[in-house]
Parts: sequence; structure tokens; C-alpha cells
Amino acid sequence: MRILVVGSGGREHALCWAIAASPLCDTLYCAPGNAGIAEVAECVPIGQEDLPALVAFAQRERIDFVVIGPEGPLVAGLADLLAQAGIKVFGPSAAAARLEGSKGFTKDLCRKYGIPTGAYERFTDVEAATDYIRRQGNVWKDQPIVVKADGLAAGKGVIIATSEAEAIAAARDMLSGNRFGAAGSSVVVEEFLAGEEASFFALVDGTHALPLVAAQDHKRVGDGDTGPNTGGMGAYSPAPCMTSELDQRVMEDIIRPTVRAMAAEGAPFRGVLFAGLMLTPAGPKLIEYNCRFGDPECQVLMMRLKSDLLPALIASADGALAHFDLRWHAETALTVVMAAKGYPDAPQKGSEIRGLAAAAEVEGVTIFHAGTTREGERILASGGRVLNVTAMAPTVEEARRRAYAAIDRIDWPEGFCRRDIAWRALAARG
Ligand code: AMP
Ligand code: GLY
Repeated sequence: MRILVVGSGGREHALCWAIAASPLCDTLYCAPGNAGIAEVAECVPIGQEDLPALVAFAQRERIDFVVIGPEGPLVAGLADLLAQAGIKVFGPSAAAARLEGSKGFTKDLCRKYGIPTGAYERFTDVEAATDYIRRQGNVWKDQPIVVKADGLAAGKGVIIATSEAEAIAAARDMLSGNRFGAAGSSVVVEEFLAGEEASFFALVDGTHALPLVAAQDHKRVGDGDTGPNTGGMGAYSPAPCMTSELDQRVMEDIIRPTVRAMAAEGAPFRGVLFAGLMLTPAGPKLIEYNCRFGDPECQVLMMRLKSDLLPALIASADGALAHFDLRWHAETALTVVMAAKGYPDAPQKGSEIRGLAAAAEVEGVTIFHAGTTREGERILASGGRVLNVTAMAPTVEEARRRAYAAIDRIDWPEGFCRRDIAWRALAARG
């Protein structure tokens, strides 16, 4: 098969790495890719937002199957355009990608179909949002109030306000259109959910859902979960908090009802459904959906996947997941994100990274590139999140030791990472 992967991050490097290993894959392209992806795929310089150019490339190169990594092109309708051109694609239609593209859409779906999530209301008007925040301030008492921009906001559209005044200011700021543009023209005001967070993934073919494995990530930039939110600074799988009983409950109470609901709404979901969960004392509740693999969660999932990824992605596109099965390594996979100094606000670009070959020699380690370019023999940082140093081992302790041993071989003074990835998993073991 001739395959095209769309995207340029560590998630897409991990997807290309897994797809390149499939006996079904003859030729692998990635648009636009990065310096690490170039080692397993042929990179084509087409941006992920240039939908007509991506479709034209797929037609010209007689691509058999397109795998779309990021949410942007999915929400913008790339899967629909490819399907119209007769090209098989992994990833949801724009209508189904509303699960990520509109937080209000998902909250309304949860309400209509009884899917557990936090109490909320949606607003386009500051006065109405203010009234609700004042009223709920009494109900929710000392709990923070969560204010979310409805649309895609690169992980920055969520404010956990610790006072009514702060929540009102956040809603006003979003609705004014200054901060998030059109993505903030509607907001969700939501109850704060307390508990441990987990990332749950399922492949969906429109009708059936096949659970993958769960993971946990670290969203804050600093050690001890401090500082601003990021796209994710590290992840590991399995997540000790997700027991097999909880897995089943999430499938029964959240994932399957959502798959049925989307079909009933005339927008069947095909692709990977990524549920951000809060494990509350009252059971797992949905924080949000994403319509694609997590980044960096995908990197640890691909390390743990024993089966061939490609037939599973094709089965999702073909509506053939009902009798599909996947095998996983029981070992722990753990990834540490190396970011450019200044991330997430203003990452420095263009610094050179040395020592990657020596780092990759550490037992069990695979290095995925998230934001790199090649200049001759030199590898340069070109993004905020730059490398995902990923390790597998029989225990979480050993996976962590290997990942940091590899990081210590990387010579990149302009980069940094968290030193405490998987602290929750280690604490859970006592
Ligand atoms: P999101 O962009 O929706 O994933 O939100 C970013 C982060 O904000 C989540 O990973 C949670 O840590 C936090 N968050 C979002 N909604 C809630 C909520 N209702 N209660 C508690 N934390 C939340
Ligand atoms: N790591 C969280 C995400 O991909 O949204």
C-alpha cells in the first residue's frame, strides 16, 4: 500500500514508525513531517492546513490510505475531502470531529444521551454567563469554576478560576473575541471535577468501538505539576489508576453511548476517540473528547502495541472493527518531552541538538522527533516540544531510568524537560 500520514509532531513520528514496520506498507509519505520522520518516511513539504494541496498530492501519488494525525485538518474537513476524492482515510468527518472542535457540542451530546460529565451551561452573552457564574458560585461553594472557549484553542482555552470574579473575567475575555478569536465566541461554564485524570483511547468504525490501552500525561510545564498548561510534557502507559473494571465501565458508560449517539445524530464517528477522563469518587466522568491520538500519549501506545497498527486503522475506516483484536506488551512505556527553553510561551528556535545517536543506544529507548529540522548533518530545534525520549521496560521505575539515562546523553543546552514524569504511577506503588 501507498500511505500518507498528515502532521509533523511526535505523534506522527510514532504513527509513521509503526506504519513503516507493517508488511502492508510499501511506500510511506508524511506531510510535512520532521527530521526524525524523514528516517522512516518520505517527507513532502505540504502544510497540514493546506487541504486542497494534500488532496491533490494523494490523488497524484495514487495514495491508498491517508492517516490524519492532528485535530486541525480533521475539524476543517480533510477526511471529507479525501473521501469525496475516493481515497480511504483514517480519521473522522468534520461533523464527527465536532466532538473535539466544539466543547459545547460534546456537553450537549452528553446531556442528551446521559453520558457522565460535569454540570455546565453554554453562553454567547456575557451578562447571562455572569448570572450563571454568580448563581453557581453559591451551589459549587469553594470549588473552582471552569470556563472554556468552545472551539480549538491549542490547549489554552480552559481557565480554572478560583473565584467568581476570575471566572466572570475569563468569560468576558473569551466572549470579547480578543483572546481566542472565533473559538471563544461561545463559552462553556462548567463544574470543577476533582480526582485523578486519565487518557482513554478507543478505535471506532462508526458502529463498534475497540478499546486500546489507557495512559496518563503531565500537562503542566514544571516539576510537581506546576506552571502553565502545555500540550503534554510526558506520558506513560499502562496507567495504574485504570483498573480493568474501570476500563469496562468507561466503555459501557462513556465510549459506547457516544458511538451510538453520534450515529443517531447522523455523524457516525470513525477514527480514534480519545476521552480525557476524571476519575471522581462518583465514577469516571468525561472532561473532554479529542478526535485523534494524544500527543505524547500516542508515542507510548505505539511502543506497547505488539500487533500491526495498519490493519487496525484500515478496519476503523472500513467499518470492520467488530471482530478485531489487538495485542499489547505488558511492559511500561514512558516518554519524556524535551522542549525548547521558553516553551510554552515563546520557545527559542534554531538551536542545535547533539548526541541523539548515543542516546538511542540506551536499552529499550526510541527517540521520536516532535519539532526538528535537518540542516546538512545538523539537527535543529524548530518547535516548542522538540523530542520525545521514549523507553520500555518491565517496570515503570526502569522505564523512567532508561528514558532519563538517554536524555543525559543528549547535548542540547537550549532544551529542558521535567524530571518527574510518572510520579503518580510511582506513588501508586508506594
Ligand atoms: P481540556 O483542554 O478540556 O483538556 O482541559 C485542560 C485541562 O483542564 C484538563 O486536562 C484538566 O486538567 C483541566 N480541566 C478541564 N475541565 C475540567 C473540569 N471540569 N474540572 C477539573 N479540571 C478540568
Ligand atoms: N496530551 C494531550 C493531548 O494530546 O491533547
